[in-house]
Amino acid sequence: VNRCNFPKGFVFGTATAAYQIEGAAKEGGRGPSVWDTFTEKYPDKIKDHSSGAVADDSYHRYKEDVALLKDYGFDAYRFSISWSRLLPTGRVEGGVNQEGINYYNNVINELIANGIQPFVTLYHWDAPQALEDEYLSFLSPKIADDFAKYADLCFKTYGDRVKKWITLNEPLTIAANSYGSGGFAPGRCSKHVNPNCTGGDSSTEPYISAHNMILAHAAAVKVYREKYQASQKGEIGITLNSNWFISMTDSLADRLAVARALAFNYDWFMEPLNFGTYPADMVKNVGSRLPQFTQEQAAMVKGSFDFIGLNHYTSNYIADAECNKKDPPTYFSDSCVNGSFARNGVNIGPTTVSSWLYIYPKGIEDLLLYTKYKYNDPVIYITENGVGEPNTGSVSLEDKQRVDYYSRYLLFVRRAIKIGANIKGYFAWSLLDNFEWADGYSIRFGITFVDYKDGMKRYPKNSAKMFKEMLACGSESRGQ
Ligand code: GCO
Repeated sequence: VNRCNFPKGFVFGTATAAYQIEGAAKEGGRGPSVWDTFTEKYPDKIKDHSSGAVADDSYHRYKEDVALLKDYGFDAYRFSISWSRLLPTGRVEGGVNQEGINYYNNVINELIANGIQPFVTLYHWDAPQALEDEYLSFLSPKIADDFAKYADLCFKTYGDRVKKWITLNEPLTIAANSYGSGGFAPGRCSKHVNPNCTGGDSSTEPYISAHNMILAHAAAVKVYREKYQASQKGEIGITLNSNWFISMTDSLADRLAVARALAFNYDWFMEPLNFGTYPADMVKNVGSRLPQFTQEQAAMVKGSFDFIGLNHYTSNYIADAECNKKDPPTYFSDSCVNGSFARNGVNIGPTTVSSWLYIYPKGIEDLLLYTKYKYNDPVIYITENGVGEPNTGSVSLEDKQRVDYYSRYLLFVRRAIKIGANIKGYFAWSLLDNFEWADGYSIRFGITFVDYKDGMKRYPKNSAKMFKEMLACGSESRGQ
């Protein structure tokens, strides 16, 4: 595949996130986020005991990074703003950090000067520590108000140049990992799930945090629509993530289990966003632990997007599992399904360095078509797709598995477009190797190699060259 096989105007980009690439954690007036605290206080929770304190040093090297995007031929760059870099206390009332404002102005201006469109994520998991200390951030409904004010500041400051806004990245992952398993900051979960939790309750907090995330998202969209959209003429959406799920057998029980898996991963957010209600399977299985929307909230949430951002990496098999009346239940036991990457001893696809990621390219087509048909054909941007490889320590640019991954997944994106899914763009995760959360730097997801041991030098891998060739199609005529 190449650019010429995609519709005219289809956007190709790469994605990153602030905590994973910026570094400069204590520079430029930035306040701490929950990830700074988590990695500092609990180094054992990160595979290589590392943190994002330095990361790729993109805070100082953003010009180099924009030059890479330009060289590769990408149209767009999805990056996130560090909330506590703009607002060190998390609150507008606590003071705006002018150095932080300047930094993102510089990044945005550099992108635009190079013909690259910014797609800006407001929240990619780095909640201000001050709000965690004050009211446990997303566990409190207070977060919606503070998030909306932070979003307002971003729209006001950058909205003359930023025309694509993403409120939150992967609320599912936050609910499941930050509040269910406790593997991600702030590391909350029940002790019976993980003895290393820093407090929490895996039977309720995933649902409470998700509820507050949905309300915070809707509050930010409301601000954008009421105050900025008419004059700035941009669009706003949210980035969700889901695996695709395939029935272990043809039995009705397993097929219903697939529907439950979709409910607990994807429809959890898509149904409120489209219909103002939670999925019936969740209402039934979670009962009174699932918060409810008031009528007013439901009205605000319903339709609160111009596009859906979709992060997709992998697929797995699903089998029905008896609802174990585990006491207490957890987010992971509530859906009463068993997930697996193998069926009759055969893997769903090639394994990768990430235990959660098996390669199954058709899954992306199926998830895109599910979205189209179930949710009235929304505009979709694929905001992340990619695969990691091990960190061997030395510079390695031959990422054969990644080249193969991208070309095959893109083939299935193209099929979904042909069938009529309304897909407007595709972002590879990631522009750079970076801090892969609990895996630290042990896994590399970049199309660009970052030499952490030698001055943070960047080297294009073969996958970057593949994109460059792919994106060159048509440029002969476009450039003139
Ligand atoms: C995500 C994450 C990225 C991860 C990537 C690979 O949004 O899931 O945004 O931060 O690095 O998914 O695991």
